[in-house]
Amino acid sequence: MSYSGDSLQRPLSDSHYTRAPNPANPGEGGPYNNGYAAPPPRKRISPWIKFGIPVAILVIVAAVVGGVLGTRHSKNSSASSTGSGDGSGSGPSAGDGGGNSNVQGVFATSTDAYFLPVYPTKANNALYVAPTFTPSASASAAWPADTFSPATPEMTSVRPDRPRLLAPAYKWAALPDLIQKDVYLKSFHNRILNNATQYLQLPPVKYVLDGGSGILDISREVKQRIKAYSYAYRMTKDQKWLDGAWAELQNAANKGPNTFSPDPSDAWNKGHFLDVAEMTAAFAIAYDWLHDAWTDDQRSSIMQSIIDNGLQVGLAAYNGASYGWWTGRNGEVISGNWNCVSNGGMVLGALAIIDDDQSGVAAQVLAKAVPNAQANCAKGPSSDGSWTETPNYWYFGTTGHAEMTSALMSATGSDYGLLTTNPNFNLTGLYHMYVYGMTSLFDYADHGPNKYSSTANSMMFYATAYNTPMYMLHQRDRFDAADPTSMFWYDPTVAGAWWNGLPLDHFFNDPETYWASMRSSWTDNKGLYIAMKSSKLTGHQTHGDLDCGDFVLDAMGQRWAGELGSGDYLSTDYFTSEADDATRWLYYRKRTEGQNTILVGAQNQLAEEAAPTFQFGSSNTAQGSDPVLQLSSDSTAFATTDMSTAYGSGSSVKRGIRMLNGRKQVLLQDEISTTDAAVMWRMHTNATISLNGATATLSLGGKTLQAQILSPSSASFEQMDPVRLSSDPPLPSGQSDQENKGVHVLVINLPAGTNTIQVLFNPQWDGMSSSDFVTPNNVALDNWSLTSH
Ligand SMILES: *[C@@H]1O[C@H](CO)[C@@H](O)[C@H](O)[C@H]1NC(C)=O
Ligand SMILES: *[C@@H]1O[C@H](CO)[C@@H](O)[C@H](O)[C@H]1NC(C)=O
Ligand SMILES: *[C@@H]1O[C@H](CO)[C@@H](O)[C@H](O)[C@H]1NC(C)=O
Ligand SMILES: *[C@@H]1O[C@H](CO)[C@@H](O)[C@H](O)[C@H]1NC(C)=O
Repeated sequence: MSYSGDSLQRPLSDSHYTRAPNPANPGEGGPYNNGYAAPPPRKRISPWIKFGIPVAILVIVAAVVGGVLGTRHSKNSSASSTGSGDGSGSGPSAGDGGGNSNVQGVFATSTDAYFLPVYPTKANNALYVAPTFTPSASASAAWPADTFSPATPEMTSVRPDRPRLLAPAYKWAALPDLIQKDVYLKSFHNRILNNATQYLQLPPVKYVLDGGSGILDISREVKQRIKAYSYAYRMTKDQKWLDGAWAELQNAANKGPNTFSPDPSDAWNKGHFLDVAEMTAAFAIAYDWLHDAWTDDQRSSIMQSIIDNGLQVGLAAYNGASYGWWTGRNGEVISGNWNCVSNGGMVLGALAIIDDDQSGVAAQVLAKAVPNAQANCAKGPSSDGSWTETPNYWYFGTTGHAEMTSALMSATGSDYGLLTTNPNFNLTGLYHMYVYGMTSLFDYADHGPNKYSSTANSMMFYATAYNTPMYMLHQRDRFDAADPTSMFWYDPTVAGAWWNGLPLDHFFNDPETYWASMRSSWTDNKGLYIAMKSSKLTGHQTHGDLDCGDFVLDAMGQRWAGELGSGDYLSTDYFTSEADDATRWLYYRKRTEGQNTILVGAQNQLAEEAAPTFQFGSSNTAQGSDPVLQLSSDSTAFATTDMSTAYGSGSSVKRGIRMLNGRKQVLLQDEISTTDAAVMWRMHTNATISLNGATATLSLGGKTLQAQILSPSSASFEQMDPVRLSSDPPLPSGQSDQENKGVHVLVINLPAGTNTIQVLFNPQWDGMSSSDFVTPNNVALDNWSLTSH
């Protein structure tokens, strides 16, 4: 299949590999300068040293805020620890393990090397109840009810008061009091002001064409600053935030002292429409949230920019302009982030000005954008909740969807079906939770650009929209939880432990997106996590890899088997097609040899023919309230797949993966039969590998994992470099693969024939002696069961 739209408009550069650190957080590693979905482990420096400067700034900000908001709560130990939590980029930190009865929730004590929340190991029956929105007797913080509820909502009939986008006035009015009462809101608030303070020291964002294809990072940086400034101004009424916002807006509107876009007739780069959409959203928020603060001239200037650079350009896209391929044409459904973000920006822009707009473009755009989003964006999750693009694109897609839907609801009183058209949209929060491993995402396929203004805070919005408090509890402890949207999407009546009652394993059972997730705990980030996918290889908005059977393995706080991520988005024909012969499949990171799976005859899997089957079994172990989960020895899970269709006639390839020994070991088994093609088993790892015949010892982050070939008895491990095979067809001229620094490939080579490959992974857990490891029974995949091993 290939795109009917102008796919040349689609590419972004893979700048997230090369981008300089964000000046707002100088010296910060990890999430802030690489797009944070797969943060590299940070070195273990004391957070007090590392975050000393942000904390100092925070104290100043806190003093300012304290003066505005009145007396801060005292006597609440969480108030002081909030300070350290802020600086570390983590959620609020109760320090005492959540045992303080003044604390309203369950708080992470810190974040780990991968920015994941670290939970206390002490049970707390009072706090760790099942997730609920029912306020406990002591909780006094709750949002007042909205009085705007039109009987027959209409898109063009907006609430009488402003703001109307995302957060109506009654919510803003309630916020200062809630910030005093709710430790999470207080923490988010402080972190937003902290960021805004840092942005104010920076010159306005410069127009930089990213690899020649877009200004998406630029647009998102403008949006992030505008959100922070607008929030800060409304909360403090300090003129400097208004001035900061105005300088940024004037600049991005090409009306500042310096030239922004070299082509003023296309200020926001319509050829790459996401850039237009994000910029329009930024201007919409500034227009609406700061409506009363602007002079008449300022207001009409902002509105004109929204109309000229945003909505008119968008209207042309809906009406057939080539750069509007993302609207879905000729029956194609664009169920990905492009549609959600693009429609989202148009909806925010139109709602912001609809009653002030004399041109009528706002109403015309709304009439197109909302049905278009229903038909496309709302199909982002497959029937099992998996984001049909990739786990990283989930962030962009759901941020776009949530902001668009929330704005429609706050401004007009209805979601127009965006929450319900896809009856399984509510499962996409579950997808996000299970696709997050014990270090990072099971980050298969393309990763996408930086996540400046995209977070996982759609989880908070979906928690309320779908009455699933677990989503809110999960997200509030995350490093990206602080955002002006979370100030309003967060519901302080939420209570409980998100893991309480949550099964450890989940099978995502749509053939388009088949995959399974298994773990030893929800709260111990140093446990065992495996995930394996084996689904159709087309229908992923050209963001997928040829990766049936691909898996990741986390243990002891390390990722032992991992992903390589995006290729270079500017590579020739990277996004042109998902067909068997697509150029995309020439690039190593997209090829089957670049995945942790089986290679037959050194050939790619067949993109169009692959239709794997998938079976799954789980002991259905669920975590209880206790953050320390004791597992019985029969607690297990497994996934098996017959992926022969991905290899074509003449080959039968089945794979199974399972947890053993009370979820302390992993068995990976392949049953392969080929007529004349050799077989190669491949796994990519950041570990250093020491080979000894059928045993490989992997070392990473001071930990050790042993991989042992149980079958065939003649086989031994080899090591290769993560580069294309010499037999591969050539890349298009002038193109090259990305370097995969620090990555090694653990390999088993077998001749053609019928073989069962069994590899046992034994993480060398602290305190576990060699006699504690089991050697599994030899059971054919078709006979795997919960009790077979
Ligand atoms: C999603 O919605 C369905 C139908 O309302 C419901 O049965 C299911 O429990 C929901 N799942 C989650 C994770 O909220
Ligand atoms: C604060 O700034 C960092 C670095 O730019 C960013 O990752 C984070 O999302 C920002 N948070 C908010 C609330 O703007
Ligand atoms: C290597 O580590 C990086 C940073 O954590 C991660 O993104 C990547 O997926 C890892 N690669 C492999 C092959 O595990
Ligand atoms: C599965 O188990 C049954 C019963 O024990 C046995 O007859 C059959 O041969 C086994 N299948 C395979 C493929 O080993």
